[in-house]
Amino acid sequence: MNTKKAIYKQAPLPFMGQKSKMLGALIRILNTFNISKDCVFLDCFGGSGLLSHTIKQEYFENRVIYNDYDNFLRRLELIDTTEEIRKGLLKIVGAVYKLSLETIEKIKEFLEGYDDKEIDFITLASYLKFIGGRSDYLTKDVFFKENTFYNRIRLTKLESNRYLEGVEIVSCDFREMLEQNFNENSILILDPPYLNTQRGHYKNQLDEEATLIILEYVKKARYFVFFTSNISHSETFFKLSNIPYNKLGRTLAIGNKLDLMLFSKV
Ligand SMILES: C[S@@+](CC[C@H](N)C(=O)[O-])C[C@H]1O[C@@H](n2cnc3c(N)ncnc32)[C@H](O)[C@@H]1O
Repeated sequence: MNTKKAIYKQAPLPFMGQKSKMLGALIRILNTFNISKDCVFLDCFGGSGLLSHTIKQEYFENRVIYNDYDNFLRRLELIDTTEEIRKGLLKIVGAVYKLSLETIEKIKEFLEGYDDKEIDFITLASYLKFIGGRSDYLTKDVFFKENTFYNRIRLTKLESNRYLEGVEIVSCDFREMLEQNFNENSILILDPPYLNTQRGHYKNQLDEEATLIILEYVKKARYFVFFTSNISHSETFFKLSNIPYNKLGRTLAIGNKLDLMLFSKV
């Protein structure tokens, strides 16, 4: 049996909001907790599954449940076709950055060989549009409505071998996930769409009521890690709910936004 760990430092496919820059900090925080084998990690807002993947590599004896609300799994299922498309696009586009109308026509022709349902439009958008990551392109017609395209195609092979190995997967609203899986051994990994910020291509937004529901679970959890930012009101919610927490921050190059992790005081 091949026991070598599969370590991904970023999700195998583009996913806006993935926490690739915070994996080290997350593991350092988790290592301060007293995690026994009966603890179960609940990645309630799983996104690309990157946090579940990372936690499973470190805590391989523990159950890790990833809530795939966005159906990232479907995109992983398409990855071989997406890789075929990536290679085809590279051949057509060459080294040019801003694509000519002629090149765009060639791309359209090439993609005619694929059914809309076989195309991962989120990945395609990240390769060809300036602001990738939208999920509302469901057909080639919509995708090609705008006329400005760029070459941002990834140069390395796509693969997702063993990415979610050992991770349990559900796909539902976070409330349902918690109702079905929460108990006193739960370690909550909470990376909700930020309150008060741009939410990229996510399917949904969280309101204040949802935040209060989350905090009720946080109070009862064995441990929690909550991702937020200084431009969100989450810290105020924690304070008003009298939840003790520790805090770790990471400044982003863009503006004065600070990514924060609020986590159990031990
Ligand atoms: C900040 S992202 C999580 C990113 C993830 N930690 C990663 O590293 O890829 C927030 C996720 O919550 C999802 N989401 C939005 N509303 C939700 C809901 N009601 N229940 C569960 N997940 C939800 C979004 O679609 C998005 O995937």
